[in-house]
Amino acid sequence: MSQPTSPAHSFISKIWDLACCLSIIGIWPRFIEPNMLITRHLRIEIPKLPKEIEGFTLLQFSDLHLHSQVSNRFIDKIIGKIQELRPDMILFTGDFLCFGELADKQRMQRFLTSLTAPFGCYAILGNHDYAQAVSFNDAGDYDTLSQKPSALLKGLKRLFVSLTPTGRITERARSVPLHQELVALLKSTPFELLHNQTKTVSVKGSALNVCGLGEYMLGRCDPATAFEGYNSAYPGVILAHNPDSVPRLMTYPGDLILSGHTHGGQINLPGIWKKYTIMENLAYAKGGLYPLGEKWLYVCRGVGSVLPFRLRSVPELVHITLEAKR
Ligand SMILES: [Fe+2]
Repeated sequence: MSQPTSPAHSFISKIWDLACCLSIIGIWPRFIEPNMLITRHLRIEIPKLPKEIEGFTLLQFSDLHLHSQVSNRFIDKIIGKIQELRPDMILFTGDFLCFGELADKQRMQRFLTSLTAPFGCYAILGNHDYAQAVSFNDAGDYDTLSQKPSALLKGLKRLFVSLTPTGRITERARSVPLHQELVALLKSTPFELLHNQTKTVSVKGSALNVCGLGEYMLGRCDPATAFEGYNSAYPGVILAHNPDSVPRLMTYPGDLILSGHTHGGQINLPGIWKKYTIMENLAYAKGGLYPLGEKWLYVCRGVGSVLPFRLRSVPELVHITLEAKR
């Protein structure tokens, strides 16, 4: 299903890079900010948190979007920071790939096998991680892309075309299978894929539920199935790539929902960011921590992007300490 980058796409990409080099305003968002990495530290209060889980630490990262323009230096920076933080558990909230293309299996495997945590590493899939990528068609419906676009051309097109998401999912998008090569690769790494599935992880005589949803834009977000194995006697962390899936999760258990997908708006200029963050509900688009009644939602800006261009949305790791609500 994956296609190699065409010579035309790579030529356009080189011209773009040259233009960014020659333009002072292009240097920061193209070459500097996408290679920066911050760690956001959060202490999240959970009602009735068992004392055995007080102080438990989670490391969330999201939207890796590994492609040829992601440098090994940046990958090593992510590995180094995560290793330094020594989290109890590592959680990835989707978009390993760009447009369903597993372009560099070896680098992906090396990266993922460099990460370990005593209570495990868990991952979900994003809309780029199935056998075909799903985005918006011209009508604003979720649909498969007829061909792998140039990230740059797609980015430029977004500047001039306004799209309003309808929330409808085409049958083509619903029938896209899992990316078997990616699923097989994950099995050879410490990352366990949770696709509409809950894992109840034993922690020092207590337990923590980790529930992973399938991707909303492909009609695979299936909480009824995902929560079947959830043990309500224990707290839970819910992984859902797209924050548009959050309303579906509100009637299910779980204390903390972790999402990604929005890249924090990615290009945060007035009138521009909405073109790069097409969401049914823009309330969560900029990312950050949101209280949702008894639950919390954190929307991570992610570490990568399909188009390596970020402004006022520095890539981030999220280090979360669970605390009991007094
Ligand atoms: Fe993404």
